[in-house]
Amino acid sequence: MTKIWIVYNTKHGNCGKWCEEVETKLQEKYEVKINSVKEITPNDVANDPPDMLIVGARIVVGSPDKKIKGFVKKLGGLLKEPIPKAAILYTHGSPWNETFNKMEAILKENNVVDDILPEILEIKMEGIKGPAEPDQDYKVSKFIDNVSYFVER
Ligand SMILES: Cc1cc2nc3c(=O)[nH]c(=O)nc-3n(C[C@H](O)[C@H](O)[C@H](O)COP(=O)(O)O)c2cc1C
Repeated sequence: MTKIWIVYNTKHGNCGKWCEEVETKLQEKYEVKINSVKEITPNDVANDPPDMLIVGARIVVGSPDKKIKGFVKKLGGLLKEPIPKAAILYTHGSPWNETFNKMEAILKENNVVDDILPEILEIKMEGIKGPAEPDQDYKVSKFIDNVSYFVER
């Protein structure tokens, strides 16, 4: 069975909540693990690499936050070979801006993954502490379809 590992960082709980939403939907078809970067180390992932990594990042000052970036960079240095596939989820407070999407380059530059789903999931917050704006759920359904197609092709 295809193994997917979701790793995220959250401060106010929103990024974690949306990653859990994705996990619940993917559990129907795949073996899914989910952890905050506060619970595991990059070594844990490197020692049991999944078929697909999903990274959940909060945007802070126009960029994925430092903890998730640090985790991913360290992971790249520990893996024997890149994880085959990855997808990215962001939570953000300002209107979405393509320049926020720096995780894709970080995953590639650090040899963490071979192939990245081009369609990201971005969830817009109402304010800094959330919650998400209404009507963000449809984005999750679309993301799940994209992930399923990508992981099975
Ligand atoms: C110090 C700080 C800086 C932030 N900078 C940005 C930003 O530049 N762009 C943006 O869209 N959201 C920004 N935000 C909003 C965060 O993206 C939002 O709080 C976060 O995604 C919520 O996730 P969490 O509940 O998991 O912590 C900022 C939040 C904080 C606290």
